[in-house]
Amino acid sequence: MKILVTGATRNIGRLVVDELLRLGATDIRALTTDPTAAALPVEVEVATGFVGNSASLHRALQGVDTLYLAPHPPTVGTAVALAEAAGVQRIVDLAGGAGTGWEVIEEAVETSAVPWTHLEPGEFMDNYTMWADQIRSTGQVRDGYAAAANAAIALPDIAAVAAQALLDDSYVGQRLELTGPECLRRDEKLQAIAHALGRDIDYVELDPEEAVAALEPAMGEYARWYLEGVATLIEHPQLAVPTVAEVTGRAATTFAEWAEANVEQFR
Ligand SMILES: NC(=O)c1ccc[n+]([C@@H]2O[C@H](COP(=O)([O-])OP(=O)(O)OC[C@H]3O[C@@H](n4cnc5c(N)ncnc54)[C@H](OP(=O)(O)O)[C@@H]3O)[C@@H](O)[C@H]2O)c1
Repeated sequence: MKILVTGATRNIGRLVVDELLRLGATDIRALTTDPTAAALPVEVEVATGFVGNSASLHRALQGVDTLYLAPHPPTVGTAVALAEAAGVQRIVDLAGGAGTGWEVIEEAVETSAVPWTHLEPGEFMDNYTMWADQIRSTGQVRDGYAAAANAAIALPDIAAVAAQALLDDSYVGQRLELTGPECLRRDEKLQAIAHALGRDIDYVELDPEEAVAALEPAMGEYARWYLEGVATLIEHPQLAVPTVAEVTGRAATTFAEWAEANVEQFR
């Protein structure tokens, strides 16, 4: 069974390749925008290109049975049509349910006749590297909505579920909601980072407009949209679901473990 992993240079796609190898997959092709940066293991067949470039995707899809579809909403319709035409038997996509902004991916995949599994992650723990500059330069975090709580997820956990779903067709037709193992407030997440650093870091709560202004240098036009979503988590915290542990057989990464593993980014 030949598996094509798209978006294999960085982030989730690259981690999916590692997880597939760990699980014993032997016929992996990886589509990467930058083979040098991807530094793929020798047992992986390297294809150069981008899921959003139809010519390179078309070439990479030849002979493929199962596809990991990296998130690129502008071209997802074309990508799915190319996969179906190439005879792909199953698609595992990184997307999100209604209201997340990522549902366009699921809708496009479902227009095809190709069996699918949707991965629906919540917020990524890596988003909290947005505090790294402040922590390094001021020793505190000035941000809004300290009481907003969610169960953010680590990227390797998303990749581990993706790899299982690529190798095991029992997840066909399922939407796998993915979270970390615990629901934490934003100031509790900061305390986990502070603990990893071995020092105190204050969460200085800003009012909503100040918070947008503080986040704009890092997030630009998305700062307001992001913080509006964060605000809803005060009254409606996102609770943890057990999908990662159920699918992978190992506990999902805690925020404290993620902070320890990524502590150098904050030092
Ligand atoms: N529910 C959610 O929160 C949710 C759901 C779905 C997606 N997302 C979003 O998806 C992203 C995470 O997914 P990911 O890390 O796997 O994907 P990613 O790094 O955003 O990449 C997605 C695709 O774009 C390509 N790409 C990325 N940067 C590029 C660049 N500078 N030039 C050309 N191509 C580029 C990647 O290919 P290469 O890796 O080969 O460069 C890949 O095919 C995050 O931005 C996240 O916000 C979130």
